[in-house]
Amino acid sequence: MNRIERDKRVILNTYKRLPIVIDRAEGHELIDENGIHYLDFFSGIAVNNLGADPAVKKAIHDQVDRYLHLSNYFASEPAVELAELLVDNSFADKVFFTNSGAEAIEAAIKMVRKWGNTNGKTTMLSANGAFHGRTMGALGLTAKPAYQEPFAPLLSGIAHFEMNEIESIREMVKEDTAAVFLEMIQGEGGVRPVEQAFVDEIIKLKETYGFLLVIDEIQTGLGRTGTLFAHEQYGIIPDLVCVAKALGGGLPLGGLLVAEALTGVWTPGNHGTTFGGNAVAAAGGTALVTKLLEDGFLDEVNRKSRRIVSGLEELNAEFPGVIREIRGFGMMIGVDVGEAAPLLQEAFLERHCMVNTTSGTVLRLIPALNIGDKKIQQFLDIFREILTEKA
Ligand SMILES: Cc1ncc(COP(=O)(O)O)c(C=O)c1O
Repeated sequence: MNRIERDKRVILNTYKRLPIVIDRAEGHELIDENGIHYLDFFSGIAVNNLGADPAVKKAIHDQVDRYLHLSNYFASEPAVELAELLVDNSFADKVFFTNSGAEAIEAAIKMVRKWGNTNGKTTMLSANGAFHGRTMGALGLTAKPAYQEPFAPLLSGIAHFEMNEIESIREMVKEDTAAVFLEMIQGEGGVRPVEQAFVDEIIKLKETYGFLLVIDEIQTGLGRTGTLFAHEQYGIIPDLVCVAKALGGGLPLGGLLVAEALTGVWTPGNHGTTFGGNAVAAAGGTALVTKLLEDGFLDEVNRKSRRIVSGLEELNAEFPGVIREIRGFGMMIGVDVGEAAPLLQEAFLERHCMVNTTSGTVLRLIPALNIGDKKIQQFLDIFREILTEKA
């Protein structure tokens, strides 16, 4: 039996596997069991923000030799160091570490609930099409019927608005609104950025009604969109931000970033986790965030993003009718190609390039942030080759 057959035999069937057996990663390439190199525009779904990076790997190795895990009876140096980096470079005053994105959302829900229970605010709002995770609390916010319906009843006190429809959010926000949850770019929802005017309206409503603004930066955070956090580009200050995916440098780690005004909401014992803030994951995360904060690093992300987008625009001019829309910013770019998305993904794979699809119609380009110009050109050349053949 090969690995794919063994996987099918013993692992529950919840994921759609690609028909390739990966042996190892080098830089921005994945190498399969036959030694074939695949250009990685997938990054483990926005986890490996620096590809297979030597500094991140070294930090992880070094921490493995110190200790793997301390119980939360002790302050752990890597967790403290990572939290310092996050706090010193964001709106947040404190961090609560989790193991995953969904758990960061769960933590936000619990913080909102406790805060709301003392303020008479009981309803949480999220956008239709949003993805905030699949645990039972987070699933209530993940407003996609296909994900929600089989698992009803979900957490009560949640309602949904239409993203980028000002009338819809005006209608939904009321005196009892405790929080609005928002992705700055809906990732699983098709790489759909929230519009500035819509965000401005939320801020206006927040000033009137006094709810909390919770930004889900699980996918958009940590340099992915060209700033450390995507919300910075909208000129807003959230109350809570959820992070995960890239946070552990490739290891499981999430976090809830908390504004100063909310740091007293929980008291000891209100929430906890055995592994949240694990030392090895935090060491990987510290190496990652240190790199993101280096002078000029994020400028380069933006320059290379423009290069990808202008290459895509050229292809669109050359082969009209395939690309419906190019969306997103930084290294989170969605190319809406309609029904052709799965076929194009397959064509990329045949040419040894990994791209992800989302929402059925969108090629989601999420390469490592430090991908080189040559690799970008290689990707664009492959896309041109595919379009030439299919034209
Ligand atoms: C925006 C967003 N929120 C939450 C999650 C859930 O994170 P996790 O899969 O780590 O639970 C994801 C995962 O894709 C995500 O993209």
